Order: sequence, then structure tokens, then C-alpha cells
Amino acid sequence: MTPPSTAVSRLSVDLGARSYDILIGQGLLQNAGAHLAEVLARPRVAIVTDDIVAGLHLDTLTRSLADHGIAADPVIVPPGEGSKSMAELERLLDRLLDLKIERKDAIVALGGGVIGDLAGFAAAILRRGVEFIQIPTTLLAQVDSSVGGKTGINTRHGKNLIGAFHQPRLVLADVDVLATLPERELKAGYAEVVKYGLLGDFPFFEWLESHGPTLLRGDRQSLQYAVLNSCRIKADIVARDERESDVRALLNLGHTFAHAYEAEGGKAGLRHGEAVAAGMIQAMALSQLVGDCPAQDTERVKQHYQATGLPATRRQLDLAAVPSARLLEHMRQDKKVSDGRITFILVHGIGNAYISRDVTEDAVMAVLNADN
Ligand code: NAD
Ligand code: GLY
Repeated sequence: MTPPSTAVSRLSVDLGARSYDILIGQGLLQNAGAHLAEVLARPRVAIVTDDIVAGLHLDTLTRSLADHGIAADPVIVPPGEGSKSMAELERLLDRLLDLKIERKDAIVALGGGVIGDLAGFAAAILRRGVEFIQIPTTLLAQVDSSVGGKTGINTRHGKNLIGAFHQPRLVLADVDVLATLPERELKAGYAEVVKYGLLGDFPFFEWLESHGPTLLRGDRQSLQYAVLNSCRIKADIVARDERESDVRALLNLGHTFAHAYEAEGGKAGLRHGEAVAAGMIQAMALSQLVGDCPAQDTERVKQHYQATGLPATRRQLDLAAVPSARLLEHMRQDKKVSDGRITFILVHGIGNAYISRDVTEDAVMAVLNADN
């Protein structure tokens, strides 16, 4: 596979009346006004962002919007997972109502997955739904959270347990903005890129084996290709199953473990992508135990993790001391639990994932215990 040129790529997410485009490339933020003008019903937006992203990228966006006659009010929330809370949602909704944001105006999420999930949920429920545009600024948000319409917040019971499906009108994924992203965040997002190779695209995994280290050094062409291919896989799955009644669950490879790790906290500022990285290795171990995944495939993925610095074990997340039974208890709260059974995404091997509702808790405990 050859990475494409640096021209902007356009992908469509095919959802009938809710279809939208994802633009991927360089220079998109500074041209955002032109792209937004094509889809806005009224030239008025509220930009939801966090302090860090505001300091780095808000001016570029507001200047471009002003150049195209689009009025923009920024609403700045604190950075970090803590902002996906009922309290922050309430503050945000109040502010948006103060600004008199109407249904035909748009809420623009400028930030990572936290901002996209929070702002998207606010857009879903404000006046029973206002227009929404995603400008993702982390690798994780560009390849995953900005596409597909899942929005929501966390509660003390677990992650993303309150939310709504609310598709954006447009997604602008500008790989230039990733240049300011801390290395740890880039790596966490890279775990979700690897996920696409593991769940359904073996040649993409092979491409990552040879290009992953370059990508993680910030090579923009490799980043653009990885974002494009990841979004292509996600857009295809979302178009087939928008509400996750079937194949969309494949996108949760590693996430049942990851959400349990995240509920425990682990190493300081544990990143979602870090938890997913380790979770995918456990999902492969489970696939070996209860299915037909060859051990050498798991080993091959672990080698790629070593080459790119992704965490593969609970110990690497500082969660070795957490009893397996407690992790299992978190998994029982997973959104995919049905009739009391936990759903797992397993793999027949690299690039071939499937959904299993037959995994016993004994098998899960065996894998959790073996990881300690
Ligand atoms: P994040 O939004 O917390 O961003 C990580 C950090 O990077 C933040 O401190 C942010 O201020 C900073 N940042 C963002 N862009 C930057 C930039 N360009 N330069 C410098 N700093 C920048 O984390 P994330 O990893 O993007 O998202 C994680 C969240 O996404 C989790 O809450 C997870 O549940 C959610 N998620 C949602 C979906 C979905 O489908 N809705 C999918 C995957 C993950
Ligand atoms: N991140 C999983 C999904 O969008 O379905």
C-alpha cells in the first residue's frame, strides 16, 4: 500500500438523510470557514473547546470563520476526562442557552474525544437537537470518536453510560494540528489505529508494522494515510449498523477490558487508548483460550507494541494490584451486557474479528489472572 499525496481526502459516511463528509488532510483548520460555510444553515456557531486546545488552535479557527462571515462564540471547558460529567454538561448547556444558540446554529467541537463527546451530547439534547460539527485535534478523535455519532458523559457507574447518537454534519480532520499533541497522546491514539488493522484489515496492520514508528515521529503523510484508512473502515461499519445492533460492536475490540481498567484509574492520567491497547492483547488471549486465534498472532501484535511503545499488560498500566474479580465486576456493567452475559469481541487472527456472546466468566477470570 502506498500512502497517497498530501491533497485533502474526502470520505462519506452513508447514513441516508444523516450522511456527512469527513475531510482529512493538511491546512484544514485554517480553511475551516470555507468548509463550514458549505454546510451551515446559518452563519453562527458556538465553539466548544478546552483550555489547552484553545491556547493552541482556537485563534486559527475563529480567524477563518470570521473571514467567511461566520459569527463564533467560544465556550471553554477544563481539559480532561473529568469534563465528561453531569456538572460540566449542565454548565455547558446553560452557557449555550445564554448565547441563544438555536437549532439551525451549530455547535463545533474543537478538541479531543472528551470535547467531542461532551459537546456532541449537548448538541443532541439542546432544544432537542442542534447542528453539530467535529474538528478533532487528537489522533484518537480523528480516527475514532469524531466519526459515527456516539456522544455522552460518564457517571460513577462507569464510562459513557449516559449519551445519545447524534451524527455531525461535517468532520474536519487536520493532521497539522497533531504536531502540538504530546507524545503520550499520539501513542494513545495510535492504539485505536492498530485496532482497525486487528479487527478487519490485515494489510493495514502490515503497513503499520513498517510505518508505525515513522508515523509516531509525526510524519504527516503517514498520519494522513492512517487517519484516512481508519476512518474508511469505521465509516463502512457505521453505515452498515449505525445504532450498534450488530457489526458496529466490532469497533469495541479490547474495550470491555479497557473500560474496566479505566474504571479503576491505574497509572496517573491513564489514557483511553492506553487502556484499549492492553485490552486488545487480553481480547487476543481470550480468543486463544476460547477460540481459534493462533498464539503467534498475539506474539506478533505484542512485538509491534514493543516497537511502538504501547502497553500490553495490566502491570504496565499500574493495575497489577487490582483483583481480577473487581475487573470482572466492572465488565458486568458494560453497555453490551445482554441477558446478564458479557459480549466480547474476539479474533480468529489478526484482521478477522467476530462478536461472541458465549464467553464464560471462568474464561475471563483465567485470562485476567494470567495477565498478573
Ligand atoms: P482528550 O480529549 O482528553 O484529549 C487529550 C489531551 O490532549 C487533553 O488534555 C487535550 O487538551 C489535549 N489536546 C487535544 N488536542 C491537542 C492538540 N492538538 N495539541 C495539544 N494538546 C491537545 O482525549 P482523547 O484521547 O482525544 O479522547 C478520549 C475520550 O474519547 C474518552 O472520553 C473516550 O471515552 C472518548 N471516545 C469516544 C468515542 C466515540 O465514539 N464517541 C470513541 C473513542 C473514545
Ligand atoms: N468507538 C466505538 C464506536 O464508535 O462504535
